[in-house]
Amino acid sequence: MNVVETKQDLRNTLESFMNNQQSIGFVPTMGFLHEGHVKLIEEARKANDVVVLSIFVNPLQFGPNEDFDSYPRDAVRDDAIAIQAGVDVLFRPQVEEMYPEEPSYTVSVQNRVNVLCGKSRNGHFDGVATVLTKLFHLVQPNRAYFGMKDAQQVAVIDGLIEEFHFPIELVPVQTVREEDGLAKSSRNVYLNEKERAEAPILYKSLTRAKETIVHGERKKQVIIDQVSSLIESESSGTIDYVELLSYPDLKEVEVINGKIIIAIAVKFTNARLIDNITIEV
Ligand code: PAJ
Repeated sequence: MNVVETKQDLRNTLESFMNNQQSIGFVPTMGFLHEGHVKLIEEARKANDVVVLSIFVNPLQFGPNEDFDSYPRDAVRDDAIAIQAGVDVLFRPQVEEMYPEEPSYTVSVQNRVNVLCGKSRNGHFDGVATVLTKLFHLVQPNRAYFGMKDAQQVAVIDGLIEEFHFPIELVPVQTVREEDGLAKSSRNVYLNEKERAEAPILYKSLTRAKETIVHGERKKQVIIDQVSSLIESESSGTIDYVELLSYPDLKEVEVINGKIIIAIAVKFTNARLIDNITIEV
């Protein structure tokens, strides 16, 4: 595996692949890799000649009171996991490499952001869209891989690729879970023992909601109430949101029809967990 830290070294490394018309699969991450990230790498491995992984904790997508400084980092462990998973090129820039000065240009996302995480994380998706625009230009991949655990992020990137004419195929990858159903996340390490034991209720509430819909329920509010009361009764966390929207447009729906997403965010002492399922009715 080739590890590069500068834009110039990345360009030099990718040039020969591009000259040989080799296809590039790109997996952008913030590191502290787990099986969710590995699944994205494996999917990229299957469909492309070259796999590029980026590890960059992007300050632009963290709010002033969020966990940029304390975001978990472990380069040695990440290297071992990336090699094992079959990454060809690991791009790990410092903040100064990506943002040598205050950015003069940022991407402002107008659609699909006034709901779910976008509502409480002001400017978060602008930061995501800005760094991905830069990374897409640097890596010029044929395909880019993103996890459905962050379904709103997938919806936003879908719009970004479409509106900015990136010649990139977006490949969404199903959420990888622990055995008890908890979605794998770098932030799970922030949960204390009691909270970790409670956390599977997030996914359990979503699968129950799906069963209710499969059995014929079509009223949004009934589903939201069912999910909320289950989480409230079986966890010490505080609900940030429980929402049911169309997917990927993320528009309000009253009656469940077509492709929808049920998405939740729950705050624990030191971690805010998100999860979702999409259902085609
Ligand atoms: P990060 O949180 O490191 O996630 C990197 C990618 O891994 C994202 O596409 C995310 O959806 C995916 N992922 C995380 N947990 C997963 C799981 N349990 N199953 C499947 N995929 C999972 O998302 C980001 O970084 C950043 O916002 C980024 C896109 C890199 C831009 O900075």
